[in-house]
Amino acid sequence: MDERRPDTMERITTPELADAFIEKQIEALRAQIGDKKVLLALSGGVDSSVVAALLIKAVGKQLVCVHVNHGLLRKGEPEQVIEVFRGQMDANLVYVDATDRFLDLLDGVSDPEEKRHIIGEEFINVFADEARKLEGVDFLAQGTIWPDILESEKGIKAHHNAGGLPEDIAERFELVEPVKILFKDEVRIVGQQLGLPDNMVNRQPFPGPGLGVRCPGAITRERLEAVRESDAILREEFANAGLEGKVWQYFTVVPDFKSTGIKNGERSFDWPVIIRAVNTRDAMSATIEKIPYELLDRLTDRITHEVDGVNRVLYDLTPKPTGTIEYE
Ligand code: XMP
Repeated sequence: MDERRPDTMERITTPELADAFIEKQIEALRAQIGDKKVLLALSGGVDSSVVAALLIKAVGKQLVCVHVNHGLLRKGEPEQVIEVFRGQMDANLVYVDATDRFLDLLDGVSDPEEKRHIIGEEFINVFADEARKLEGVDFLAQGTIWPDILESEKGIKAHHNAGGLPEDIAERFELVEPVKILFKDEVRIVGQQLGLPDNMVNRQPFPGPGLGVRCPGAITRERLEAVRESDAILREEFANAGLEGKVWQYFTVVPDFKSTGIKNGERSFDWPVIIRAVNTRDAMSATIEKIPYELLDRLTDRITHEVDGVNRVLYDLTPKPTGTIEYE
């Protein structure tokens, strides 16, 4: 595999170019891996899903995918990973529901950085536990893409490679990074050609700590559920309104305070749901998506009636700066 993206490499902009890339990668992967096994942490995000689909085509059951559910995924996400990869692609998929492990560790932790640290570290622990259980795996596949390499070279962000794994695990594996020379838009076209569902290939960005950063302060299961349910309603309504794929990122946040309201003719004391929808080119700055009033009205009605523990809906009008896109 090419170590660097060649300056002369044609940008993959068409299905035909994606097909040619896929053919070439399959050959290269078969040559690299032979009859050995490969391990992949499959989050269900675009990059790891495309790597999984490529490897399934190249080496089939020699690929072992591990999907860790940290309990902070969006509604329907683990189910979709299982359905697409085990159901449709017949992949060797280990599903680990580590929800309790994560939520127990996060219990009572309100500092944003500490929350992120716990989630990141525990993710590695769970993955390493699974890796130790497997015999005869020589390769570790990763969804590294070209901007990851550029950004780590420029010192903008540390590239999350095997460096995060404990030594006894990291030194066992040789890395396999089949989309390393691609930009994000190219990864998406390759994913489409590999037959991944549209909503997986065109997913909006989703942070590693997941809904955890949208449940500010100490996470409780009840408030997390309110984030998950309101997010599902928002995504459904945006899709119905034809906004899916047109708005960079949209999600809900449930802050840790309650206010008085009336529900079913009785006094309620419940959380608000904050709606955030932003557009950006590079996530360094962002503007607000002007959600049509009728859609806001419908979202408010559905969220206040369908989500337990919620009695208000607020619309965040803050661009970045001064707000960041996420709340933590
Ligand atoms: P902020 O909140 O910094 O977010 O304005 C900028 C973009 O980065 C995403 N984000 C993350 N992505 N791991 C990720 O993979 C993370 O920990 C993380 N934190 C923020 C955020 O969703 C937005 O698109």
